[in-house]
Amino acid sequence: MRTQIGIVGAGPAGLMLSHLLQREGIDSIVLEARSRDYIEGRIRAGVVEQWVADLLVEIGLGERMQRAALVHRGINLSFSQTLHHLDFQKLVGKSVTVYGQQEVVKDLIAARFAAGAPILFEVGDVSIRDVSSEQPTILARHGGQDIEIICDFVAGCDGFHGICRPTIAAALNNFDREYSFAWLGILSQSSPPSSELIYAHHDRGFALFSMREPDRARLYLQCRPDEDLDRWPDERVWDELHRRLDGTATLVEGPVLQKGITPMRSFVVEPMQFGRLFLAGDSAHIVPPTGAKGMNLAIADVRVLARGLAEFYRTGCGNLLTRYSQVCLRRVWQAQRFSWWMTTLLHRPDDASAFDLRRQEAELEYVTSSQAASRSLAENYVGLPFDM
Ligand code: FAD
Ligand code: PHB
Repeated sequence: MRTQIGIVGAGPAGLMLSHLLQREGIDSIVLEARSRDYIEGRIRAGVVEQWVADLLVEIGLGERMQRAALVHRGINLSFSQTLHHLDFQKLVGKSVTVYGQQEVVKDLIAARFAAGAPILFEVGDVSIRDVSSEQPTILARHGGQDIEIICDFVAGCDGFHGICRPTIAAALNNFDREYSFAWLGILSQSSPPSSELIYAHHDRGFALFSMREPDRARLYLQCRPDEDLDRWPDERVWDELHRRLDGTATLVEGPVLQKGITPMRSFVVEPMQFGRLFLAGDSAHIVPPTGAKGMNLAIADVRVLARGLAEFYRTGCGNLLTRYSQVCLRRVWQAQRFSWWMTTLLHRPDDASAFDLRRQEAELEYVTSSQAASRSLAENYVGLPFDM
């Protein structure tokens, strides 16, 4: 097989890249290790920055989102038994949209099939050869056969545990930070305690009260990274959620539809490219989910990559492609800083002292009472402008 761009991974990064390329008349093949059902059902991110929502509309993918999604003009911070609202519209004139990542993925898959373009699901033994040549080649097994895809470029959109980053590991520098906590998340058939997200700081640890549809709450609790889910029957989860919300809003319980643990880490590789293999999204960087940045960053990367590739095929000039890493990493590090800051502001570290907790409360008070501090949080949360 022959294609212009071989795309490994059908998450938000890979699928969005294929869609943007198709709009430029550039041909691609997407390979995905999992089944279509699996990736369309995988519950992950929920918050879409305003520019991503605008992009989805602009490229013809906004129809279902505009019908089903919830536009949020701000968030709530709960601490010291009080709920504080930050109004992003008032502070920075922008909002965010709560629309599940799997819905974005469904819309992108539907658009790709409608365009008659292929996604090879359930591929195995994926490897990449000759990344330094002008014909990088993807090898894989699909439908019981060995396949070989000769490409002009390969996009490594295969997430944190994929094979693309390890393929060029010798050329990369790693920047890594682990945290001593994780999130235990549930999806519940119940309405969320507030129409906007609540990020709760509490002596017992962080909690987040989010949602998907009006009758689906997505709720998270800070827990240990090695937490055993068997030790968390539904009653214990609800009890802990009530305690950490601390009476600042009313939490309604409902049947728990899904339960899982999300690890936390901050991770970046530099550069995000070697030869003709470009890394995008979680394959190149991970943020802790507190800042709601992961999917948005993945889409920011492939927007830059699609522009670079479009320039290359249109003019023969690789100027933008050469600067791919540099342009992406600027935004990546801003998102890293913000996600780290939100995480350390709101979580209780393992070795937290009484001083640490008071310092966090003081910072929360500052963030909710100073215009300058609230605007800084708002500006980062809704997504920094691209010209910064
Ligand atoms: P992925 O979505 O991981 O996609 C990679 C794809 O590659 C997968 O489908 C995988 O199956 C496939 N793959 C892997 N290996 C191979 C291989 N060898 N061959 C072929 N295919 C392969 N981000 C936000 O922006 N906002 C949020 O509110 C938010 N909340 C989150 C909450 C949770 C609980 C979690 C876990 C994450 C959250 N994130 C959030 C992060 C966000 O989900 C990720 O950043 C996002 O999925 C990155 O997209 P991606 O396409 O780069 O990678
Ligand atoms: C979610 O709804 O899953 C969600 C929302 C905000 C975050 C992280 C996850 O910061």
